[in-house]
Amino acid sequence: MTKDISTAQLQFAKDVENGLSASQKYLSSKYFYDAVGDKLFQQIMELPEYYLTRCEFEIFEQHKDDILQKIKTEGKFNLVELGAGDGYKTKILLEHFINKQAHFEYVPVDISHQVLKELEAGLKAEFPNLKVKALNHEYFKALKELNKMDATPKVILFLGSNIGNFTPATAQSFFKELCEVMNKGDKLLIGIDLKKNPKTILKAYNDEAGITRAFNLNLLERMNRELGANFDLNNWDHFPTYDPFSGECRSYLMSTIDQDVHFEILNKTFHFKNSEPIHMEISRKYSLDEVETLAKNCNFTVRKHFMDSRGYFVDSLWEKS
Ligand code: AVJ
Repeated sequence: MTKDISTAQLQFAKDVENGLSASQKYLSSKYFYDAVGDKLFQQIMELPEYYLTRCEFEIFEQHKDDILQKIKTEGKFNLVELGAGDGYKTKILLEHFINKQAHFEYVPVDISHQVLKELEAGLKAEFPNLKVKALNHEYFKALKELNKMDATPKVILFLGSNIGNFTPATAQSFFKELCEVMNKGDKLLIGIDLKKNPKTILKAYNDEAGITRAFNLNLLERMNRELGANFDLNNWDHFPTYDPFSGECRSYLMSTIDQDVHFEILNKTFHFKNSEPIHMEISRKYSLDEVETLAKNCNFTVRKHFMDSRGYFVDSLWEKS
């Protein structure tokens, strides 16, 4: 266990070093999610401006029966969720599928052992008859393990617009790789935030209460905690942007003064000029056409787009052809 932690820390340190050595500095948003970041993201999902979670919730409430009709198989199916989190939205589907006596097993996949433990305990209490097979692996490793264990048809959930953090090229290689560990007829339900009024989008990443700002700044604090850095949070400003052509919402932290930051673990100092940005995150938005092109490029057939009443968000059902 100790060895695991230090390997992960080492990778973190290396990624930070690479990102801050680039001519356009960047950090990877996957490092947002330590214990503090997890809590902040929970708070983000409850913000009035952050419509994404509520939209997907509405889609599941409104279309749960249609979703079940479209995904159920002759015999049993495995409902695999990539990046299960707290299962808040998934519970709507689970409850409905159980009520309709669908023959399935729930397979949450997450790299956080803690997240899975809490999810499993919660599900046991709420749905005592639900079969849960949690896999504590990285996504592709988990899917390969699952394929070795049984040939049950799979329905894979990738919810919450997590796809937004990928660049278009990464998204394509991710879904191509996913396609390779799926069998013909297996399905994929992907939650994707759609292009819309740019003001609505920008507000979701620049909330009044400043939680998104704190979520970004937490990565600086995390580097102070884990890499022995000495970031002074007072010298950083949260700056989100949205480009309506590319659909890219980006967040930056801007240095508000000329400053040096030292990292004990790297034994290195980085200089930040006044007004120099660090690129923190991409939350890409798609059009339905772009969703369909992506599916086609990765050898999937789009079965149906499930959308909320405002057309803000889509849960797109793809099938491996
Ligand atoms: C969890 C990646 C879907 O991009 O909307 C929320 C993360 N960042 N507010 C998103 C996030 C800032 C979120 N995802």
